[in-house]
Amino acid sequence: MAVKKLNKIGVLTSGGDAPGMNAAIRAIVRYGCYLGMEVVGIERGYHGLLNKAFRPMGMRSVSDIVHRGGTVLKTARCEDFKTAAGQETGVRNVREAGIQGLIVIGGDGSFAGARCLSERGIPTIGIPGTIDNDLAYTDYTLGFDTAVNTVLDAINKLRDTMTSHDRISIVEVMGRHCGDIALYAGLGGGAEVIIAPECKPDIETICGRLRNGRESGKVSGIVVLAEGAGRAEDYAREIAARTGYTIRPTVLGHIQRGGAPTNADRRLGSMWGAHAVKLLDKGIGNRIIGIKANKIFDVDIAEGLKATREIDMDIYNTAAILAL
Ligand code: ADP
Ligand code: F6P
Repeated sequence: MAVKKLNKIGVLTSGGDAPGMNAAIRAIVRYGCYLGMEVVGIERGYHGLLNKAFRPMGMRSVSDIVHRGGTVLKTARCEDFKTAAGQETGVRNVREAGIQGLIVIGGDGSFAGARCLSERGIPTIGIPGTIDNDLAYTDYTLGFDTAVNTVLDAINKLRDTMTSHDRISIVEVMGRHCGDIALYAGLGGGAEVIIAPECKPDIETICGRLRNGRESGKVSGIVVLAEGAGRAEDYAREIAARTGYTIRPTVLGHIQRGGAPTNADRRLGSMWGAHAVKLLDKGIGNRIIGIKANKIFDVDIAEGLKATREIDMDIYNTAAILAL
């Protein structure tokens, strides 16, 4: 959708927070100011849009945030924005504030909202911000790399204590529908078993792998379980009953959502933020940004949201072989 060049834009973060969102906010504000635009921060996602929680953001308002996790604009979930009445209020508030285009940083739900805004005449660009890496149109989402590194740090620590006691650790990580955190952290952390929503070995296969490891001289074991595939407690009880090994479940929870973003996430946030502003500057809306084969691109929102992706079975099978 091509519209006229914009000189006042807004930015909001929506849905679950993710490390790297601040890098993106900083890039949007700085690049926007550099192009002579006014940039408005909208607090608490679509909730702030409905409640006119708008604040002007200048170059210096984003000092000292590139290295921080979370989002300085705060985030929220907003049921009202899913209704036609809510969206009409949002559009009215945006127009009254003189905001001509928006950048939404969030996941697929937030992008559905961005699409509604574009359809109602507010050119809107989406930046994928979610640790789950569950947006199939892009290789990576903002926050995923940091979350994987947080999980790896936990696996390293768990490995120390499991080895000292000849135990097996079941580490439950985030990922309701997408097992990428489990997959990538499992590969890098040398996990004996990875259990993902898209690839869930049966309990005897899991126990068999752990038994083979033990019988071939392994003194510890790590099972990485994505939350969408079950609960660590349940797996621990079942595996202990079948094998007689001592199993300890650990749920990492929201630790995975915080912390200083890795350089990979700062780079994505910075480059995507600038890319989003450049699109609005050219009068382009209704796009979401991603990265494929290390190249930044943008795609129509509806098209991007249609994409589907399987879990990478090459990584999955290789991880299993490397942990034999
Ligand atoms: P995420 O963006 O991380 O997927 P959610 O699914 O919770 O997170 O969505 C975040 C917010 O986006 C919701 O609280 C709501 O305000 C908005 N949203 C979600 N789905 C829609 C939709 N179908 N239409 C309009 N807005 C939506
Ligand atoms: O950000 C995605 C995610 O971390 C999921 O993996 C997890 O289940 C969920 O968000 C929890 O979010 P909240 O506690 O904010 O509802």
